[in-house]
Amino acid sequence: MSMTTTTLPSIDTGIGERDRARIADGLAHLLADTATLYFKTHGYHWNVTGPQFVALHGLFEDQYRELHGSIDEIAERIRALGHRAPGSYRELGQLSSVPEADGLPEAKAMVEDLALGHEQVARTGRELLAVAEHAGDQPTVDLLSGRLAAHEKAAWMLRSLLA
Ligand SMILES: [Fe+2]
Repeated sequence: MSMTTTTLPSIDTGIGERDRARIADGLAHLLADTATLYFKTHGYHWNVTGPQFVALHGLFEDQYRELHGSIDEIAERIRALGHRAPGSYRELGQLSSVPEADGLPEAKAMVEDLALGHEQVARTGRELLAVAEHAGDQPTVDLLSGRLAAHEKAAWMLRSLLA
């Protein structure tokens, strides 16, 4: 028997097909925002300069590691909902509402840019939360709850550097 043909009926875990598609689409946007913010944070980690170098280099590392870990979790939730996870820079760039880094800002502008980025990703995730709750998609609700807490914490830390 070929593994590429199956007689299984289509996926049915109690979430309707339209809800699964809508949630997967929202998660694809969240994935794109997170991946863009991840790479931007990693780039700032490499390139930051100035008297706050040690603190910022270290904080950016903590934050890019956290973002990187979440990318896989979001993508795999999309797959569990029966949809394809975006997996190229081009596709992620098209879906992202977080702009790519533009040149090399000075340290303070990096911190401001990342704070705004985390708040943008939190808004993207929060928009989807109501949809997932309405559909009874508790695993996605749990995932989003963790992501919102992480982005709000990161934004708080970055804003505290500017106070
Ligand atoms: Fe490093």
